[in-house]
Amino acid sequence: KVLIVDFGSQVTQLIARRVREAGVYCEIVPFDKAEAALAALNPRAVILSGGPASITDEGSPRAAPAIFASRLPVLGICYGQQAMAHALGGVVEGGHHREFGRADVEVSARSPLTDGLWEPGARHPVWMSHGDRITVLPDGFHVVAASENAPYAVIADEARHYYGLMFHPEVVHTPDGARLIENFLFRVAGVKADWTMAAFREEAIAAIREQVGSAKVVCGLSGGVDSAVAAVLIHEAIGDQLTCVFVDHGLLRAGEASEVVGLFRDHYNIPLVHADVSDMFLGALAGVTDPEAKRKTIGRLFIDVFDAEAKKLGGADFLAQGTLYPDVIESVSATGGPAVTIKSHHNVGGLPERMKMKLVEPLRALFKDEVRVLGRTLGLPPAFVGRHPFPGPGLAIRCPGEVTQEKLDILRKADAIYLEEIRRAGLYDTIWQAFAVLLPVRTVGVMGDGRTYDQVCALRAVTSTDGMTADFFPFDMTFLGRTATRIINEVRGINRVVYDVTSKPPGTIEWE
Ligand code: XMP
Repeated sequence: KVLIVDFGSQVTQLIARRVREAGVYCEIVPFDKAEAALAALNPRAVILSGGPASITDEGSPRAAPAIFASRLPVLGICYGQQAMAHALGGVVEGGHHREFGRADVEVSARSPLTDGLWEPGARHPVWMSHGDRITVLPDGFHVVAASENAPYAVIADEARHYYGLMFHPEVVHTPDGARLIENFLFRVAGVKADWTMAAFREEAIAAIREQVGSAKVVCGLSGGVDSAVAAVLIHEAIGDQLTCVFVDHGLLRAGEASEVVGLFRDHYNIPLVHADVSDMFLGALAGVTDPEAKRKTIGRLFIDVFDAEAKKLGGADFLAQGTLYPDVIESVSATGGPAVTIKSHHNVGGLPERMKMKLVEPLRALFKDEVRVLGRTLGLPPAFVGRHPFPGPGLAIRCPGEVTQEKLDILRKADAIYLEEIRRAGLYDTIWQAFAVLLPVRTVGVMGDGRTYDQVCALRAVTSTDGMTADFFPFDMTFLGRTATRIINEVRGINRVVYDVTSKPPGTIEWE
């Protein structure tokens, strides 16, 4: 196991992904909980993340002395490198030339971190992002590589197994980064690559059996990948002690509800209640136009329906949820203040308090891509497992303005055509998420010899690794033209198609 100490970098999660991709289990903790985590996790190595603060500021995050007292191998990245240097008696200064983006480092010495990868004298591209820098190395350290602006780009104290990088090895823009991290794990720290999905599945099943015993479990299915994988895993562990409740709010994409029901009832034989309550949801959404009001209405109603269905089943002792690791990681706020709520997310978050149930969350340690791998090992169809993320409030937040049955029908058709074209072009798996939005705007067009006055459909497609930041997908114009023509020809009610070229930030992925 490896402990990742978070100093608030935007890319800390990427460190964890690289470590796990190397077959090593790891967990992320905020910097001020590092000491307790060392005791609880008993890791074999520690990685200190980057962060936005300046170690020269009073009150900025520090690396807990316990990290160094543990005598474990340590890899410090950016701010983590400076925090390590500071803790070990080196000097860090601000006000130097700030360096962001690509830089070349020149290797000057060998070290286990760069063995088999970087030879002295060679130059290699890396991704820098820092303001401060180390000016005096702590005792025992020497330089392994330097860039023009960073004389201490890679530093090492081989006797104590301490290494520091001034650049980010976890991002794809550092081409050798993943292999540097592997060298740290295997050559420096000597950890074993024993984290596999097959092993996880066995452990998770044993843990579910142990936690649940002979009690009853109810699981809310949303149609998404996470809750589906959680349900199949739990079913494998405890069989028909599990019942799934599928609250069908009528806001899913074309064909999704029947796919979920078919998969669970017919393929897996998992007891499933299909609560078809779309009329109830549409009724509650009538006249609601504010995005937050929509989200809250849907979230509240979802809990009501789920609660009622669970009561009909005679209750259950446990509630199963497909909570993922990114929801569990305590985020380190750079400002120290509470984060602003951009959107109130709809999941079954309010349920446990309301229903006084204990939680079963077998995916709590996994990232999205790991859930997909697990889903495949559990035999879920690859097309289902590879589906793009879909928000809990569904199509309601892709119809700005009031949601009506008519609008949903139009949107569903346009969305299906768009996704069909994306699949046909072989782009589905390259894109993080793609969907159509139906705008509450009518514009004039001409079709045949007649005037039309119909709605506008916006297309959105983004690339992302975690949904936190995203860039619009650069389709070629032929693709967009072909898709627009099909949508306008085949979907009554739409006479204009536009493409959204906003990144996140400043935009969000969904429109509401
Ligand atoms: P935004 O729009 O905030 O979306 O950039 C980021 C990611 O989260 C998804 N999303 C949600 N997922 N419940 C969810 O489970 C929600 O209420 C919700 N709202 C947005 C969104 O689709 C994207 O993948």
